[in-house]
Amino acid sequence: MRELLVKDNAAGLSPLLADYSDIFVVYDCNLEDYVKNSILPNIPEGKLHGTISLSTSEEDKSFQSIVDICRKLYSEGATRESMLLGVGGGITTDMVGFAASIYMRGIRFAFVPTTLLAMVDAATGGKNGVNLDDRKNILGCFTKPDFTYIDSSSLATLPRREFLCGEAEVLKTFIIDDRGRYTRAVELFSKVSSWDQAVQAGLQEELTSLIEEAVSTKQTIVEHDFRDKGERMKLNLGHTFAHAIEALSRHDADGGIAHGEAVAMGMVLAAGLAQEKGLASKGLQALLKADFKACGLKVECPYSMEQMLPVMAMDKKNQSEGIRYILPSRIGEVNIVTL
Ligand code: GLY
Repeated sequence: MRELLVKDNAAGLSPLLADYSDIFVVYDCNLEDYVKNSILPNIPEGKLHGTISLSTSEEDKSFQSIVDICRKLYSEGATRESMLLGVGGGITTDMVGFAASIYMRGIRFAFVPTTLLAMVDAATGGKNGVNLDDRKNILGCFTKPDFTYIDSSSLATLPRREFLCGEAEVLKTFIIDDRGRYTRAVELFSKVSSWDQAVQAGLQEELTSLIEEAVSTKQTIVEHDFRDKGERMKLNLGHTFAHAIEALSRHDADGGIAHGEAVAMGMVLAAGLAQEKGLASKGLQALLKADFKACGLKVECPYSMEQMLPVMAMDKKNQSEGIRYILPSRIGEVNIVTL
């Protein structure tokens, strides 16, 4: 990635777009107002070619949607000089990155993530793609955006439940690489679980600063292991369990357990497994449970290991020798373990 900018407004976007001649804004259809009021006014004069709005459920994250985006681009005259500016959460940025990576063998793209989860995880690191039937992220590629511009005030558009999902990924990042930030994040999220609460409590700068630190921590890990063969796997702390939890809950009447919610439960389970295997001190799971609860996250997984194991065995990240887990030994240290 060429550039990462974290601000609490969208005005800094304009200079980043100065070098592009033909911009398509591809955005989550729930963000009409944000795009109209904050993105479009910051596109330099004469450079906007078109806008494409996307439906962004997990079902919409399909190869068919990529074909639809490419078809629209083609019919509106997009060329190899065009660039896509993806505005939205992780589903939007995953789809925009993938469509840009294959349209005319690859055109330029950049992101303005608008969910906490996309800011600190999905929109950073060059992974993009779509689901294959109900298996997540089976089709995709590694391609970096030209830049990611984070406007933390766009979090004002985010429902509380989705903010909590992002909290889980922030906490995950600082369990992997702490330097005092895990405790800062727990303290912040115990008081604040929306942008408006952060503003009311005068904590928006602390929130923006923790977002920046989480993203740059992820960037450093990704720089060492772009293709996810080693150190980058640590970013999957809690995810082995989380993917199974999400899959098992997918057909629930309420739409199931969201990714970030499952990641919080998965990190608690990972700490329990680490303790069982003698890899972590006895108090770690209890500490995570108490901290996550204080942050408003649910920590009890509704499924048994017997229900989860067959689903975990199907995960694309496994090796032939067994299921791969990322297990924490303490705050600030995690290990990649195959069991
Ligand atoms: N979300 C995990 C990664 O980017 O590697």
